[in-house]
Amino acid sequence: MSEQNLTEKIGLLDMKRMPRHVAIIMDGNGRWARQRERERSEGHAEGVNSVNRITRISSDLGIRYLTLYAFSTENWNRPQAEVETLMHLIGWTIRKETPDLVKNNVRIHLLGDTERLPKEVQKSLYDGVRATAHCTGLNLLLCLSYSSRWELTQTTKLISGLVKKGEINPEDITEETIAAHLSTKDIPDPDLLIRTGGEERISNFLLWQIAYSELYFTPVLWPDFDNNAYIDALIEYQTRERRFGKTSEQVSATNNNNN
Ligand code: FPP
Repeated sequence: MSEQNLTEKIGLLDMKRMPRHVAIIMDGNGRWARQRERERSEGHAEGVNSVNRITRISSDLGIRYLTLYAFSTENWNRPQAEVETLMHLIGWTIRKETPDLVKNNVRIHLLGDTERLPKEVQKSLYDGVRATAHCTGLNLLLCLSYSSRWELTQTTKLISGLVKKGEINPEDITEETIAAHLSTKDIPDPDLLIRTGGEERISNFLLWQIAYSELYFTPVLWPDFDNNAYIDALIEYQTRERRFGKTSEQVSATNNNNN
């Protein structure tokens, strides 16, 4: 798609109804490589270009939070050589991109059991977090060695500890208590969850947080997920009516009152 056509397509977006938080399950790097008779690692390397592109346009469009499922707890079970390649790629990308992220006012956050990552990757990530800590634009949440069940287990341990110390009564535990002890505390739930690569499942990602998210599945493989495909997802999101359990009439009445 030409730059002009992309600009026209962006013009179709209603800037007042942009999602505040977009979460993405980036899938299809391996198939992208296989289709070209290339190594899976080349698919992941190409996937990094998509990461950079989607981060950039999200920032330009004023999206506040972008969460990327970069490495799941289950991904540790992949062949060791692939895990090593991914780890190297993640560390290298963060080191290389941090100056640009700072320039574009993008703040890095980490979600997941990052202590499991190789020490040098942890260093690159923590350096990136520190270097971007003052940034006030897009918040880029990288999920690494993350799974929702891991997160919910951690949260349960944390809250049980508070109960044990007598700091909280079990009867006083509310949904807010749980939300406040997740890794996403202080971060609004995703409005839109995108999964690329054609599979239509959640794969242990943000299970608590996506209770009311709009889900968008696309067959486009992650390395091919360009700005055009992303704008399609955002346009589709804007056609959805988010009811949060209410009736359509109630939602229209609230929207009319707010306008
Ligand atoms: C899924 O494709 C993709 C991954 C498991 C890794 C995604 C990670 C990156 C693109 C690098 C991210 C880097 C940073 C800095 C955030 P797959 O291998 O499962 O593809 P397949 O289903 O076609 O085999």
